[in-house]
Amino acid sequence: MEIPPELITFLRSSAHVAALTGAGVSQESGLRTFRDTADGLWAQYRPEDLATPEAFERTPELVWEFYAARRLKAGEVQPNAGHFALAEMERHVPHFTLITQNVDGLHRHAGSKSVVELHGNITRIKCSRGCGVFTEWEELPGKAPTCPTCGAKLRPDVVWFGEMLPSDELATAVQAARTCQVFFSVGTSGLVKPAARLPLLAKQIGAVVVEVNAEETPLTPSVDYFFQGKSGEILPELVKAVWG
Ligand code: OAD
Repeated sequence: MEIPPELITFLRSSAHVAALTGAGVSQESGLRTFRDTADGLWAQYRPEDLATPEAFERTPELVWEFYAARRLKAGEVQPNAGHFALAEMERHVPHFTLITQNVDGLHRHAGSKSVVELHGNITRIKCSRGCGVFTEWEELPGKAPTCPTCGAKLRPDVVWFGEMLPSDELATAVQAARTCQVFFSVGTSGLVKPAARLPLLAKQIGAVVVEVNAEETPLTPSVDYFFQGKSGEILPELVKAVWG
């Protein structure tokens, strides 16, 4: 892979770098991306049929079971070379912000510190009426547990379709996009707003935008550099070329 020398030089001198990641970054860890439902137990459902407040209202057991399966799978896998390369990048850049749409927690496992989880985290659950957030609970087979305070159903602490993003996280992500010199968009289809707007916002403000993806996306025509391939291969190579 050819990394343009001017990008290497620019990255070395950049004080603030931001990166937005999506499900593609975890693909090489063995986690299925959102829009790849080629096989498996949940292939018959669209994400929109499970990851919505309406679905939880209608069939809480099904939604709970779906997330329990994802949580189990996420707990079994390890971060891959792409996650580690981003954690390494953070150690070289004075101000680095990692914005992720992933709920699997793998960036933190890989050692990333400044992580903004835009869509929540699958390892936490919360009261559907807002009483609180929990990191430990009793798993009841085929049943959504209930809130110890108000008795309402407990749900995963993730953002579902049609829901607002956590406001502090979104504000931090927007601020990073507005102030960085280089913005990476990695392994995301760029189809879900407002996350998808962040690279364009960074571009508007004058940042260099770099995309790493297995395929072209709607963002690709707008970026300064597009590296096509696996993030677990491209990112380590890039980090080595710049800071190695
Ligand atoms: P998607 O499943 O929409 O997109 C995954 C992207 O990763 C695609 O563009 C693939 O080409 C790319 N890809 C796959 N394997 C890759 C690899 N090894 N290296 C690099 N790229 C790879 O997932 P997201 O963009 O994360 O939201 O989806 C965004 C949001 O939509 C999710 O957070 C979720 C979903 O609905 C909510 O749940 C609110």
